[in-house]
Amino acid sequence: MSSNPWWQHATVYQIYPRSFADSNGDGVGDIPGIISKLDYLQHLGIEVIWLSPVFASPMDDNGYDISDYQDIAPEFGTLADFDRLVAGAKARNIGILLDLVVNHTSDEHRWFIDARASRQSACRDYYIWRDPAPDGGVPTPLQSTFGGPAWTFDLATGQYYLHQFSTRQPDLNWENPKLRAEIYAMMNWWQQRGIAGFRMDVIDLIGKDIDHGITADGPRLHDYLQEMHRETFGGKDLLTVGEAWSATPDSALLYSGRDRGELSMVFQFEHVTQQWHETWGKWQPKSFDLVAFKRVVDRWQYGLAEDGWNSLFWGNHDLPRAVSKYGDDTRYRVESAKMLATVLHFLRGTPYVYQGEEIGMTNVPFASIAQYRDIETLNMHRQHVAAGLPSTDFIFGANANGRDNARTPMQWSAAPHGGFTNGTPWIEANPNHATINVAASLADDTSILAHYRRLIALRKTLPVMRLGRYQSHLQSHPTVMAYTRDLADERITVLANFSPSPITLDLPVELNTQGELLTSNYPHTPAADSPLHLAPYESFAVLTKDS
Ligand code: NOJ
Repeated sequence: MSSNPWWQHATVYQIYPRSFADSNGDGVGDIPGIISKLDYLQHLGIEVIWLSPVFASPMDDNGYDISDYQDIAPEFGTLADFDRLVAGAKARNIGILLDLVVNHTSDEHRWFIDARASRQSACRDYYIWRDPAPDGGVPTPLQSTFGGPAWTFDLATGQYYLHQFSTRQPDLNWENPKLRAEIYAMMNWWQQRGIAGFRMDVIDLIGKDIDHGITADGPRLHDYLQEMHRETFGGKDLLTVGEAWSATPDSALLYSGRDRGELSMVFQFEHVTQQWHETWGKWQPKSFDLVAFKRVVDRWQYGLAEDGWNSLFWGNHDLPRAVSKYGDDTRYRVESAKMLATVLHFLRGTPYVYQGEEIGMTNVPFASIAQYRDIETLNMHRQHVAAGLPSTDFIFGANANGRDNARTPMQWSAAPHGGFTNGTPWIEANPNHATINVAASLADDTSILAHYRRLIALRKTLPVMRLGRYQSHLQSHPTVMAYTRDLADERITVLANFSPSPITLDLPVELNTQGELLTSNYPHTPAADSPLHLAPYESFAVLTKDS
């Protein structure tokens, strides 16, 4: 890692291709659709697109089940379309991050088709097979993330195979060196097509030791990542970000520490899981606890202050909409969406914007399970209802935290289906597209979109925003978040009210709000003296210089 890699200055934008823009009216977003929106993304100011999987796939998990790593799913386009996307993005100073899903493949991948043909198959050992338990049952009690056992019996060959996600997503056996070499060759093939890096799906699962019940953060994880680094992107100046639900600030340094440099950074999820119920997980929503949230932010900001690098995000394709989860998606939607953006973008790390977040898209109020499409939600619904939970109770949880909240079509205009498609969308658009859409946002210079543009531009010009030392303040205040960033003689002070109530605050002396107002979500200028009055969800950032 050089002293100042380019991705420390960049803002990343995540595209979920299926839901972004449909160019041919089949109801499914596609690569030509993305190409048609590159000018919009350039206008927004982002420099990287993380593209959720576009590879050939039977779409059991919307592309996170890959049947051919070196081809594009026909509903998304062709390799030629992909090359046009890379070139068109590059011309606008935007790099493409591929989603590398190598913990598992689809059961339609030729490796798995070969592997399950016989115990002697060349690719048999590319997957994880175990004999039945003495009673004929599953080899271990491990459950899959999408519900049910993580083992499925293969009648033809008399063994179980492991799948930590759906039965159609068999886990790869990373202990096999030939398999690893195939994956590295595939990564190098994509690198030669001019991509800017990889987002690595559930990468903390590849070093598993299944016979000892270890799935995440297994004993050989970092050996594999170091080998991958050596064999593929090492020295290539790419952005690599690993999805690691198990990461802690200490383990994040193993991935992204200067001396080891396996990856640029990881996605950690402590701020997400902290909002989940201890027993029922995300299906039983807990109310947002700002003090606990600030504790998590502090842990990561301080933990990676000297080494490593943070990724910063509120949402992605697996998570609810940021403004619905952490803000107020009705009365103060605009104010709270801007507040959340301010709080996130002034932190130290690389910000990720999930499609639609920049216009304040909200969760979707589906009333019936028939409106959902997500395999996890559908499986869990079946499981919970079979266990006695009323369907309406489950839907309440799914409306709050289910993955389809993030997957409804991007809202481009007030046209039918938000202008996403001329056909019938694969999943219903959120009815609020009539008012919440890109066209309306572009026409309004006080929009959430305009706010994001400003934050993204500030990051490019203000070294203190990128590199300043983080310090948190008012840690135990139940509704206000406050932090400062310092670099040389400059300081940015960020204050944010996370509540719908106005707040009066005696400012500690170290929090100086007198200076250049970098951004605010209200038209008034914050008072320079204590006490400070904060309107509902008010937030601002001020730049001061030592004279
Ligand atoms: C994490 C991805 O983000 C999610 O969408 C997917 O279902 C699982 N990994 C399995 O690939």
